[in-house]
Amino acid sequence: MNGPFKKLSEEKVFKDPVHRYIHVRDELIWKLVGTREFQRLRRVRQLGTTYVTFHGAEHTRFNHSLGVYEIMRRMVETIEEKENWDPEERLVCLSAALLHDVGHGPFSHSFEKVFHTDHEHWTREIILGNTEVNRVLKEISDAFPQKVADVIGKTYDNKLVISLISSQIDADRMDYLQRDAFYTGVSYGHFDMERILRVMRPTEDQAVFKYSGMHAVEDYIMSRYQMYWQVYFHPVTRSAEVILSKILHRAKHLYEAGYEFKDEPRHFKSLFSGSITLEDYLKLDEAVIMYYFQMWQEEDDPILKDLCDRFMDRRLFKYVECDPSTQMKIWPELLQLFKEADIDPSYYLVIDSSSDLPYDFYRGGEDEERLPIHLLMPGGELRELSRKSDVVEAISGKKRTDHKLYFPKDFLEDESTHKEIKQRIKTLLMTQGG
Ligand code: NI
Repeated sequence: MNGPFKKLSEEKVFKDPVHRYIHVRDELIWKLVGTREFQRLRRVRQLGTTYVTFHGAEHTRFNHSLGVYEIMRRMVETIEEKENWDPEERLVCLSAALLHDVGHGPFSHSFEKVFHTDHEHWTREIILGNTEVNRVLKEISDAFPQKVADVIGKTYDNKLVISLISSQIDADRMDYLQRDAFYTGVSYGHFDMERILRVMRPTEDQAVFKYSGMHAVEDYIMSRYQMYWQVYFHPVTRSAEVILSKILHRAKHLYEAGYEFKDEPRHFKSLFSGSITLEDYLKLDEAVIMYYFQMWQEEDDPILKDLCDRFMDRRLFKYVECDPSTQMKIWPELLQLFKEADIDPSYYLVIDSSSDLPYDFYRGGEDEERLPIHLLMPGGELRELSRKSDVVEAISGKKRTDHKLYFPKDFLEDESTHKEIKQRIKTLLMTQGG
């Protein structure tokens, strides 16, 4: 094929431990993978600080993005067997799948919270701004980058396309569950994706699944539920994330207070002052962040130094479960005792909460991500999944939240100073732990 939808003269493949091979036939996709903005994803881990808990979890956003592309390629193939698609629509789907996470920065969760940035904003900027990605997309047509951005921003006209990339069962989730299970080595996260793709049927606004494949879909929902609680919300991972956020807070605070760093934090300057450009943003990756954390281990500020030592040497905070209702009562006393013991509670006493809604049925006015999954019954009618599946019904619409209180236990155990205060803190924390 000539013109903008050019095929490669020979198919290219990437070897992949999850999907075995990732097939690329379109010149557009091959060129997008080669852009500097996409290559940067090799330097951003998919699971942030999870590697401190599951040492195999070193895989990157690059791996995951290729995987989502591959699942989308197979979905599009299935749809093309059923209906005639405009060849450009196919490329919109593949490009959106490949680029859906291109705006992620290093340790996104903590970064976004501390600096109020948003990876979706950066994804748009990379697709629409002055970038290599934008130039490659424009070779299709001037309007093409906007179409890809609209799919990721969920404003695209074709709702079926949006649902393939962001819904309760989409290419993104199907890839990360399997990939994260593979790299962490856990036995959750597995389900029969081949079967799900085989029973998938396109409708006007979303993909539905033949009733005969219901158990494969059930398995997928359960694997997602288990992965959240066993891997994504693991309390040790969250401890590392708490420390990482506090490092960023401390460095920002010192910068604003005019502290003189031994090594000027050049890469952070525009971030600290809230005026970060796309060019600056693209220079931030996890290697850069780790470089600074190592430099800050040499700083004179005791809090910054201690937090960086903790992160680099994995001396994490311990935690107790906390019930927000009783915790509120002891909180003022705990803050006071921490101050009396010379442990700054704004860095060393942290409540972290995680919550997840494993599957939701329809509630009016909610966005596509919450579109319920529909089964296609033998008679041709559609039924919402939780009405047919007892397993899914049991966890539908149920939000589970977990609160933990993190603190440096080693500080409290060092009884060379403030022995009595520290003992009172420990007793208070024990009553929380239950
Ligand atoms: Ni993703």
